[in-house]
Formats: sequence, C-alpha cells, structure tokens
Amino acid sequence: MASLSLVELSKRFGSVQAVQPSSIEVQDGEFLVLVGPSGCGKSTLLRMIAGLETASSGRILLDGRDVTDLAPRDRDMAMVFQDYALYPHMSVAENLGFALRMQGLPREQVASRVRDTAELLELGALLERRPRALSGGQRQRVALGRALVRQPSLFLFDEPLSNLDAKLRGDMRLEIRSLQRRTRTTSVYVTHDQVEAMTMADRIVVLRDGRIQQIGRPMEVYQRPANVFVATFIGSPPMNLLPGMAEEHGAALPSRVVLPWPRGRSVRAGTAVTLGIRAEHVLPDDHPGPGFAFRSDVQHVEDHGADTMAVVALAGCRMTVRVPPGRLRAGDRDVGFRLDPEHLHVFAGNDGAAV
Ligand SMILES: Nc1ncnc2c1ncn2[C@@H]1O[C@H](COP(=O)(O)OP(=O)(O)OP(=O)(O)O)[C@@H](O)[C@H]1O
Ligand SMILES: [Mg+2]
Repeated sequence: MASLSLVELSKRFGSVQAVQPSSIEVQDGEFLVLVGPSGCGKSTLLRMIAGLETASSGRILLDGRDVTDLAPRDRDMAMVFQDYALYPHMSVAENLGFALRMQGLPREQVASRVRDTAELLELGALLERRPRALSGGQRQRVALGRALVRQPSLFLFDEPLSNLDAKLRGDMRLEIRSLQRRTRTTSVYVTHDQVEAMTMADRIVVLRDGRIQQIGRPMEVYQRPANVFVATFIGSPPMNLLPGMAEEHGAALPSRVVLPWPRGRSVRAGTAVTLGIRAEHVLPDDHPGPGFAFRSDVQHVEDHGADTMAVVALAGCRMTVRVPPGRLRAGDRDVGFRLDPEHLHVFAGNDGAAV
C-alpha cells in the first residue's frame, strides 16, 4: 500500500511532446484509470512511473519517497502488460515464482506464495502447464498472478484486457477490481476503452495529446465533462452536440430555433457556443408539458436489447436519443420529442471548455 504523486512529470521524444507536464495524486488503495485515444501518452506516463522510460522533467514520489531515478526493480511496483509477456519455456508455477526466485526468497516461501496466488486466481489446476497450452483468459490470469505474487506497493496495468473477447473482458474487469479491493493495492490502470474506465475506476484521468483534460470520479466526469472532448469521449453513445449562437434567453441553433439556457447559466449574446445533450435526456413525448419540445422524423433505429437508440434531427443536426424498446421504428414521421434544458451542457464555441 502506498500513495503516488506525479509532480509536473513530462516526456519528450525528440520533437514529439508525448506527455505535457502533468501532476496527479493517487491515494493509498485507490484504483486510478488513465484513459484517452491512441497516442495520447498513456503508456508513456505509465512507463515513466514504472521506470521503463526516463522522465524529461518532473518527479515521481511513492509514499513521499522520490523514486524518479531508481531502477525499475527498486521501485516496488509490478506491471501487467497487454501481451502478457509470459516466459514460454516455463510452467505456470515457474512463471508465477520467477520474480520471487530472482529476489532470492527461500524455496518454501516462493512455493507457498505461488500456491496462495494460484488459489486466489483459480489457477491451481494449471500450474504445470506451459503458457502455450492456456487460453487467452488463463494467460492473462497468470500475468496478473505474476504481479500479485510480488505483493508490490503499486500495480501498473497497460491495457491488460485488450486481447480478450468482450465476455471475458467483462469477467476480468470484475476479477481485477475485486482482487484489488481485497489486497487494497494502489493501482494505475491504462485503457483506451471508456467503458473500462467508467466501470473500474475510483477516479478517471482523461488524456488527450499528452495533456490532462479532466480528473474526477466516473459519474462526475460523465455528468460534468470539462470540455467537448471529454463529453464525446466518455459515454456511449457520445454526447450529442449542436452548434449555437448565444442570445439573451438561450442559444439559437442553425435554423433559428432557440434552446433556453439551463437555470443560472447564460453566455454573453453574440458568442458562439456548442450545446451538448446526452441521449437519455431527450424523450419521445407527444403531450404538452414543460421543457423544450420539437418534432422529427426517425432516421434510424438501433436495438441494443434493453436499450434502443434512435437517430433524429433537431434544427438540422443529428441526434441520438435513447428510447424504450419498440417505441420507435426507422422511417416514423413527425414524432414529438422533449428535452429538459436543465440537462443541457454549454461549451465555449472557440476552445470547447465547459461554460
Ligand atoms: N520510443 C518512442 N520514440 C518516439 N516517440 C514515441 C516513443 N514512444 C512513444 N512515442 C510517441 O509518444 C506518443 C504517446 O505514445 P504512447 O505509447 O504513450 O500512447 P498511448 O496513449 O499509450 O497509445 P495507445 O493507446 O496506442 O497504446 C505517440 O505520439 C507516440 O508515437
Ligand atoms: Mg499504449
């Protein structure tokens, strides 16, 4: 168990600034997820923490102790990689025990820790197998076990579930989180998958082009995205966006329809804005009532089982709305919809920052 502080940590590869100076505090026992699109600097940040990459500037503190210049093996961290990185010529048991043998731990102690870890991960029946005789999920469990068995102060994960199918990914998400809760090991987990970030994280760090966009609890980031990028990256489907021009009482959309401001929010008239609304906040509703009503044809319907998404148009802009299953069909004409302006997000038209 340990806390981790990254202080103005940055990385430059030649002319590429992979990570801008970034400061992050990870609390003792916390599960922090770094999420962002490909190339945004997630792995580079994680590899600097692990010591596999030298920082261009900044410091890394583990429980207040400066580890920036320590070799990876002296940092008391264990990393799990996407490609498992198991030793192919060793059995599962030998893979699990390898790091402990290298540390010079007595044989009986290695054996007992390997046994405990194998039991925790239900690998007991597989201990004599080679990695090539395991399924992808089993290999990933061995890779996890190899990190667990070391009882490190910090777990680092770099997209450990990307090679697994959707069902197994869901199972492993739960498994990793419940193991982490039991061991209370501080963890930094990298993924490009916003669902993994939302479902696993205590807190999420959203990265883009090497820059932190927002840090917060999953629902905070979902409900109060700091900018247009976060609003469309976190959540599925992405938040609907509409371009508008600020007027006194609301934002004028392209066809001169005016969407009223949410309470207490207003923007100087004549300023360009981007309005955001989540799919679940637009409802098919033909009855008169409060809120903002509009009518649209239904362009397209996607059934996801429990959820149905319909593509409609407001002021010429496409919007995805979440509707009860069976309620709408593609090609339905002139359907009434209603949205509550309190659920509108307002972003500045120039830089996309939340207003
Ligand atoms: N050794 C290197 N030399 C030069 N540039 C590098 C090196 N490693 C990474 N980069 C660059 O740094 C940026 C960040 O890369 P990084 O691997 O951290 O991204 P990532 O967020 O992990 O992406 P992905 O989701 O694809 O794994 C990219 O532009 C990448 O090309
Ligand atoms: Mg990466």
